[in-house]
Amino acid sequence: MAQTSPSAPSVAVLCGLGGWVPPRIVDNAELSARLDTTDAWITERTGIRHRRHIEPGQATSDLAVEAGRRAVRSAGGAPPDAVLVATTTPDRPCPATAPVVAARLGLAGVPAFDVAAVCTGFLYALATASGLLATGAARRVLVIGADAYSTIVDPGDRTNAVIFGDGAGAVVLRSGSPEELGALGPFDLGSDGAGEDLITVRAGGSRQRSAGDDGPPAGPERFFEMHGRAVYRHAVVRMSGSARAVLDAADWKSDTVAHVVPHQANLRILRSVVEHLGLPEERLVTNIRDLGNTGAASVPLALCDAAADGRLTPGDGVLLTAFGGGLTWGSCVLRWPALPPTVRPATPADPPTPRPGTPGTPTPKEQHP
Ligand code: COA
Repeated sequence: MAQTSPSAPSVAVLCGLGGWVPPRIVDNAELSARLDTTDAWITERTGIRHRRHIEPGQATSDLAVEAGRRAVRSAGGAPPDAVLVATTTPDRPCPATAPVVAARLGLAGVPAFDVAAVCTGFLYALATASGLLATGAARRVLVIGADAYSTIVDPGDRTNAVIFGDGAGAVVLRSGSPEELGALGPFDLGSDGAGEDLITVRAGGSRQRSAGDDGPPAGPERFFEMHGRAVYRHAVVRMSGSARAVLDAADWKSDTVAHVVPHQANLRILRSVVEHLGLPEERLVTNIRDLGNTGAASVPLALCDAAADGRLTPGDGVLLTAFGGGLTWGSCVLRWPALPPTVRPATPADPPTPRPGTPGTPTPKEQHP
């Protein structure tokens, strides 16, 4: 870890972007063949046509490593000195996924931890990384949002199975000054734990224990649950309220916002958010049609697709906003920086990086002098 210094620059500047989604496409026809649903219902109610699923044997870290590698490359290849992974689907309840990801990227030794704020996790992780940079505790932070909801959604749950998909997106943040393109901030973050039951996985923690009188969970409480209608209302109110707060704090007028990049919850929710903000729908960035709701990955994956489309040009005002379980919400703004061309997340992965401990795997020192 870098030593703290009183003269450290005070803000985080986005300098790299990458994302990856697994190749397996699950379309509405496939879901309609095995669930009581239709392509028309899914498209009309959610705007989703396809989502991606990992294969058996894969896990969230596999997504995160590929997205992280692409972001580091986009930032010029210098090794980050901290790694944060925002996720609701860690590889295991213990340990965190970030140290595994760091080691597989050849970064063993750096501070690495997970951020748990469900679909707002990426925004929370950006703010946390900004704190590390502001104190001088780190100079270059890899922030990854990665989720594999296909591993926690009940395959027979027609509502959640149609909404969620798997993927990972990442950025590299470096220390810089507030005047630079790519400087993040201000932030608005919030939570309301009174809504804990609206989005939840009930079992596997200390309330419904894996050990003790009840034994390990085997029932439906081990799956992801969501109260769709209530979540819908909260998502619109919280994302538009948080976005408004951050625009006021930044003193940005409507015209300053060239692109709204929200958590990809549901197309109707996203349209409603931009309407509440008084912004035209053309400024909404969405890739939910092709990827569904990818949890903590959705904001950086939407940035990747917009950048790959050539939609984000240096200097553009960009508003990020998200809402998720907890309940949690958060927003921030930045002026888009000049970056190398972004690889589309659906581009095939590099050959897989072996997990540490796999026979023949070099030690982290050998990988990264
Ligand atoms: N196919 C067909 N019918 C479905 C269905 C599906 N995949 N999923 C639910 N339904 C049914 C319901 O059972 C209900 O039937 P009923 O009226 O007979 O009880 C009917 O459709 C309407 O359900 P409702 O929940 O009112 O629909 P909705 O218009 O609110 O859409 C969601 C449901 C989940 C798409 C919507 O509430 C939503 O998007 N919520 C927010 C989800 C979200 O963004 N989550 C992430 C937040 S981070």
